[in-house]
Amino acid sequence: MSPDLSTRYLGFSLRSPLVASASPLTGDLEVLRRLEDLGVGAVVLPSLFEEQIEHEEAELLRLAEVGAHSYGEALDYFPKLQHYNSGPDAYLAKIAEARRALSIPVVASLNGASRGGWVHYARRMEEAGASALELNVYWVPVHPAESGAEVEQRYLDLVSAVRAAVRIPLAVKTACVFSSPAHMALRLEAAGADGLVLFNRLLRPDLDLEKLELVPRLELSESPESRLPLLWIGVLREHVRLTLAATSGVHSASDALKLLLVGADVVMATSSLLRHGPGHARTLLEGLSAWMREREYTSVAQLRGSMSRANCPDPTAYERANYMRTLVNYATPTP
Ligand SMILES: Cc1cc2nc3c(=O)[nH]c(=O)nc-3n(C[C@H](O)[C@H](O)[C@H](O)COP(=O)(O)O)c2cc1C
Repeated sequence: MSPDLSTRYLGFSLRSPLVASASPLTGDLEVLRRLEDLGVGAVVLPSLFEEQIEHEEAELLRLAEVGAHSYGEALDYFPKLQHYNSGPDAYLAKIAEARRALSIPVVASLNGASRGGWVHYARRMEEAGASALELNVYWVPVHPAESGAEVEQRYLDLVSAVRAAVRIPLAVKTACVFSSPAHMALRLEAAGADGLVLFNRLLRPDLDLEKLELVPRLELSESPESRLPLLWIGVLREHVRLTLAATSGVHSASDALKLLLVGADVVMATSSLLRHGPGHARTLLEGLSAWMREREYTSVAQLRGSMSRANCPDPTAYERANYMRTLVNYATPTP
């Protein structure tokens, strides 16, 4: 008998714990249909960015002002305006289209870092039919005058503002850059998050030695990166009621299983789907079922969290003791 892969995430009952995370892949309706056919439990659309929304609104304002003085001049802005509109408006249309085409939940993604007028787009996403919202708070605190407490408040203000704007479930995607990630998770939950997506991979720019300029680099992840969400999901599981999604480094069924065992409600994949194609979703799910059958697990619910910090035989494995063990046990390779 096939094991029961169903799970719960953001209040939805999903048929499998594999979610396609935000990327250009999930912006393509054909790919979304295919991912649904292959068994993914939900999809997250690529993000709409704060900058896109603010840009469009500034342009609208400019048009209104120009229009008040000169209708002819205002007409000149129309092609530009249409161009700017195609971002946010096309996004709303995509949500509606994806909802019509799919029966699994379609999560819209809003990406920003400051509380502002752009946040009202969350409501427009809800109105367009998004099943849930993923708020990606991506902030690089480069100014030393901004304290850690202020950075945290920035996150919390944003989450509260979006929470106040919508009724649909809200997931918060964040990086692991807090002094106390577990404490911050509790505060995000109190601010109204229904789920956490752990973690954002921070972009690390590279330096071009020829041109002496900083260049952005986006490299696809590798399996070992899944150990960061593994650590923190394992720690958080016993402390939060909200649902937990693991993102980063899910390339094989083993990566997915480990994350579920420490307590993830869902595992998300982007790099592995980009590298091997959407068909890799089936490979991941089949690998998951095969391992569960072999070990006589009948459901994901049965295994989920059984190796979290609270449940594993040696909780110190999550802590400093393991760090020391690792250093002491390191065998220097013979040259
Ligand atoms: C090409 C590309 C585009 C992405 N676009 C988005 C995005 O629009 N919004 C977002 O929240 N995350 C975005 N991500 C991050 C992924 O959703 C995911 O969280 C991250 O890649 C880690 O998962 P992975 O190891 O499975 O790739 C993007 C990642 C890649 C590689």
